[in-house]
Amino acid sequence: MVFSMPCIVVVGGFFGDEGKGKIVAYLALRDEVDACARTGSVNAGHTVVWRGVKYGLRMVPSAFVYENCRLYIAPGANVNVDVFLKEVDETNVKGRIWVDKYSSIIEAKHVELDQATGGRIGTTGQGVGPAIADRVRRVAKLAEDVEELKEYLADVPLELNKLLDRKGKVILEGTQGTFLSLIHGTYPYVTSRDTIASAICSEAGIGPKKIDDVLLVFKAYVTRVGKGPLEGEIDREEALRRGWLEKATVTGRERRAAPFNFNLASKAVMLNTPTQLAITKLDVLYPECAGVRSFGELPLEAKQFIREIEEKLKVPVALIGTGPNVEDVIDRRL
Ligand code: GTP
Ligand code: IMP
Ligand code: MG
Repeated sequence: MVFSMPCIVVVGGFFGDEGKGKIVAYLALRDEVDACARTGSVNAGHTVVWRGVKYGLRMVPSAFVYENCRLYIAPGANVNVDVFLKEVDETNVKGRIWVDKYSSIIEAKHVELDQATGGRIGTTGQGVGPAIADRVRRVAKLAEDVEELKEYLADVPLELNKLLDRKGKVILEGTQGTFLSLIHGTYPYVTSRDTIASAICSEAGIGPKKIDDVLLVFKAYVTRVGKGPLEGEIDREEALRRGWLEKATVTGRERRAAPFNFNLASKAVMLNTPTQLAITKLDVLYPECAGVRSFGELPLEAKQFIREIEEKLKVPVALIGTGPNVEDVIDRRL
């Protein structure tokens, strides 16, 4: 099994927090990727544990761990300037990160409005919904209007497409998950943008014919932050007992949890047309898997779970997460 690369879209299959950040970081290093574009906004936190440091990235693409990778913020993304500048500093990526001139800006008034009105949905309160509403009303401030961003501006679709034409390798880093999509998710308990693979391409400015692979990421169980339906939800005590009780990267809220849901997963496959799957947190379901790097070393039950996923979803599982570190991956493409 080998990724055809050059252009791969990484997308979440449930309600976000499937571990896309860690998977993107792994791919960037392993496949020596030339560029990575992040979509979405600061409501999405991508956790990357690399060389003993835990990063909760809200703007900088998770591929920053690979030092030769050019980093881009997509035109469809929404930028919080303070968060962007702080993360650029923390990750030391100045000189290899660019923001599309059309990315729109989250201002203080958007955060205030979100915090005052977002309770009904259980938003992250980061101002993303109100900022997108202003973009739709065609009154938004864009990255090109912000003095502090002048030195980072670029025509991101043009740069990505030129790279692809030269056979460069590009990752489009999706944020959140299929069922948080404004269009395909559990409306109204959704985020303010479409989150599926084709929407990620659209946000980045890559046409459908230039996509070689769609990597759909599922966690070994389902989590959801904020309000909205969650089939098979277990209570907090049970989640704690199973080791499934997670804390959200951005808000620190507890994530609700449920077992792996094949119906949702099938629908996610239909909507995203993956060529490959990644299953993260197998070590949480089966602790003996922690840190394992080859499929053969997995306990029988864990292997059966992966095979069941492949049989029911009819898509190969290419990557399996066995721990929070970037290197904790079973790579079945190898
Ligand atoms: P969103 O765009 O917000 O949806 O985020 P995300 O998909 O990047 O996921 P996030 O980093 O918010 O949450 C995933 C959590 O799982 C983080 O705490 C990761 O460190 C952790 N994680 C990822 N893969 C694995 C894995 O294979 N095993 C374990 N134990 N932890 C993992
Ligand atoms: P908003 O995107 O902040 O408006 O939040 C809308 C809904 O999406 C809430 O239920 C949030 O908890 C959820 N949400 C937004 N971003 C993320 C994410 O990155 N991971 C998981 N849930 C998210
Ligand atoms: Mg997250």
